Amino acid sequence: MEKIVVANMKMNLKINDIKNYIEEMNKIQCTKRFVVCPSSLYLPYFINKDYAIGIQNISSNEEGAYTGEVAPSQVESLGVEYSIVGHSERRQYYFEDDEVINKKIICGLNHNLKIILCIGETKEEKDNNLTNEKLRNQLVNDLKSIDRGQLENIIVAYEPIWSIGTGLVPTNTEIEEIIKYIKSIVNEIASIDIPVLYGGSVNEKNIEEINKIECLTGVLVGGASLVPEKINKIMEVVLNK
Ligand code: PGA
Repeated sequence: MEKIVVANMKMNLKINDIKNYIEEMNKIQCTKRFVVCPSSLYLPYFINKDYAIGIQNISSNEEGAYTGEVAPSQVESLGVEYSIVGHSERRQYYFEDDEVINKKIICGLNHNLKIILCIGETKEEKDNNLTNEKLRNQLVNDLKSIDRGQLENIIVAYEPIWSIGTGLVPTNTEIEEIIKYIKSIVNEIASIDIPVLYGGSVNEKNIEEINKIECLTGVLVGGASLVPEKINKIMEVVLNK
């Protein structure tokens, strides 16, 4: 698969910042291999651009009386192509477990969304050599009952929780080993070679080093994605622009 860069803006930026961001991005030659995920509130501003757009979270339900939620069918009807699912902040602060994440993935796939599934271990799990076990459990449970054809619309993002927003990044060897492990688990489940992104403190300074990892399908960028010059530099490196 061709490499992609995903910008996870999280709950940042206000309308004027968004307008400036879009103006700046209009000046840059973008591609559909760049996926912008703003707050859902601002998604309509990003429609019909030469880059792709994604939502940061979707409901696990079809539609109806679920106050504050956004249905995958609504997301689809707006022309949004991707959804992040299972980000560690959703798991941690909103108590999303693997069962609900699995439901979200299935619901999103049924509405033609490409899913960016985030998985990763805590510092404590890493220190206790539990990383592989944690990742295996997340993959097996999150991807339960999803058939091989649909799995082709899923991208896994390996995001060590201890690396998100901290400036700490695993070594390339560590990332490479884990990507290979993730691929082997999904291959065991469904005999496919799943694309894997790395996320966690990726920035314009460390991207050249991270991009050397051969089995990497791209990166998921939080903090550095809020600044057009920084994300543009990351795109230049990863997408060979
Ligand atoms: P960060 O966030 O780049 O700010 O570490 C990454 C993420 O949470 O997706």
